[in-house]
Amino acid sequence: MYKVEERIETIEEPWLIPDQVSIKPFLKWAGGKTQLLPELIKYIPNNYNKYIEPFIGGGAFYFHLNPAEAVIADLNYELIVTYKTIKQSVENVISLLKTFKNEEDFFYEMRSKDPEKLTNIERTARLLYLNKTCFNGLYRVNKKGQFNVPYGKRSGNFFDSEVLRDASEFLQNTKIEFADYLETLRKHAKKGDFIFLDPPYYPVGKYGDFKRYTKEFFYHDDQLALKEEFDRLVNLGCHVILTNSDHPVIMELYKDYEIKSIETKRMINSDAKNRTGVDIIVIGR
Ligand SMILES: C[S@@+](CC[C@H](N)C(=O)[O-])C[C@H]1O[C@@H](n2cnc3c(N)ncnc32)[C@H](O)[C@@H]1O
Repeated sequence: MYKVEERIETIEEPWLIPDQVSIKPFLKWAGGKTQLLPELIKYIPNNYNKYIEPFIGGGAFYFHLNPAEAVIADLNYELIVTYKTIKQSVENVISLLKTFKNEEDFFYEMRSKDPEKLTNIERTARLLYLNKTCFNGLYRVNKKGQFNVPYGKRSGNFFDSEVLRDASEFLQNTKIEFADYLETLRKHAKKGDFIFLDPPYYPVGKYGDFKRYTKEFFYHDDQLALKEEFDRLVNLGCHVILTNSDHPVIMELYKDYEIKSIETKRMINSDAKNRTGVDIIVIGR
């Protein structure tokens, strides 16, 4: 009953800014930032031009912030098709989802479809459906890029039309791009912009693994390149915040900046046990 759990999480959010219209993300995504929101909002600048989030994932912070003008991007093509289609054709997606069934046979039939042979509306409905009906509700693909999470056997609704309509409305003033984060930032970042960088985290401990959000990985060298870009953005006059794990490599990299550490619960992919980890927020100013 994902719907009830998510409602409980979001009904009473003591950190909500009065009068601010926020919505919850429509996807559950590995590394989702809902838990960190009460901390992240402390670093929202009073004034900024546009908002840029180049590793958008489930977009928890974006949907919370509801910026007047924004650029969101990701290197996961399925995800970007989903955002664009929710923006442009939400009613068609809802109509199609209404014909889907939360049943095991239907799930495996849907999972086996090749997304590249589907229309964008079918592709989006498939991703939303699999995300909410699969085990643990996470998007994960194998090396060939095929979605490989088993059926979650959860009863109840697997989509909420109002959440999708609200998301579509939020997305109307947002540019959505399929791009590497460096391309997004070099193309769009200007003085006075507010930028949230939520890359795949540096892996920590024995459970650590370079996360498989996409077929591509985010390696040590990528973290170094990201730090160089972080410096460039701060020097350009952008307001930048970045999240990562508290790995010594990351702590050393950003040692010249203000760093805030926060304990968070982590869900490990295959077993549903909660573990505690430490996330950091680096504040670039
Ligand atoms: C930690 S997740 C983002 C979580 C998200 N902020 C949320 O709240 O749900 C990281 C995202 O970065 C994307 N990604 C990985 N490498 C990338 C790259 N080089 N450029 C852009 N996006 C990338 C992944 O597809 C994934 O969606």
